Amino acid sequence: MSQNANTAELSPNQMLWEKGDFTRIAASMRDSGEKLVKAIGVGPGQKVLDLGCGDGTTALPSARLGAEVLGVDIARNLVEAGNRRAADAGLFNLRFQHGDASNLTGVASSQFDKVISIFGAMFAPNPENVAREMVRVTKPGRQVVMGNWIPGDPTLVAQILKTSAAYSPPPPEGFVSPVRWGVEADVRARFTGAGVPDAAIRCEPETYVFDHAGTPADFVAEFRDHYGPTMNAFAAANANGKAADLERELIDLFESQNTSRAAGRTVIPATFLRVTVQVG
Ligand SMILES: C[S@@+](CC[C@H](N)C(=O)[O-])C[C@H]1O[C@@H](n2cnc3c(N)ncnc32)[C@H](O)[C@@H]1O
Repeated sequence: MSQNANTAELSPNQMLWEKGDFTRIAASMRDSGEKLVKAIGVGPGQKVLDLGCGDGTTALPSARLGAEVLGVDIARNLVEAGNRRAADAGLFNLRFQHGDASNLTGVASSQFDKVISIFGAMFAPNPENVAREMVRVTKPGRQVVMGNWIPGDPTLVAQILKTSAAYSPPPPEGFVSPVRWGVEADVRARFTGAGVPDAAIRCEPETYVFDHAGTPADFVAEFRDHYGPTMNAFAAANANGKAADLERELIDLFESQNTSRAAGRTVIPATFLRVTVQVG
């Protein structure tokens, strides 16, 4: 996998995620990441690939459960952050490397017991290639597990993405929205297109809980300053004199969904589509 040091050649996909610092948002997702990998049965001796792993919300707990874990992410700053977290935690069965979920060059076929991608590979362009690559590197009889935000869902992240898109310039022609990974019919079409029988694909709604040590307005500021899609929306809104409207809209959203009664803490559950694919 290439380590492209020349910023001029970076894809929009890579630039989007390197411009921010997703570690600031991921800090609010650790408990759900840990619960998820336990729920899907990650365990000792398994080989796990975590695609779009960020700084390791699911990769670190997978390694703590005894799996041998490779994390792959398009953003080099997050790969570095993940390797730092692994070293700080003394986890030698986990490494992070730069790569693209839609083209896993250098990753051998049929070698992982679990290929996990939680709100990660959904952001890669070429979803058909993503499905094909995830299936290719999974051992026969083992699983791909994806977590994908659902378009039109009323809960937090789907609404952040919708609001951010409303303030952003129209996407380039041919752009496929990441949240189509949250539409069951699209998921089935992509995996059957990669050779998986329809009966081997399961889709079910699940909940992730964001837990931030700050007010809803503080949490919005983290998204404004560190979450690529929201940073882009603020850049466009600023240019149109609409940044205050965008900020107000997001603060209203976060306040209305906050379930915490403690001042200075924000707890927001968000619904996603959990996709499980049994590779034959
Ligand atoms: C919303 S974050 C989720 C990170 C992590 N899975 C977590 O739950 O904390 C999306 C991640 O997908 C990564 N990503 C986006 N496009 C990618 C691609 N084409 N290949 C690999 N990773 C990608 C981003 O860099 C970012 O780390």
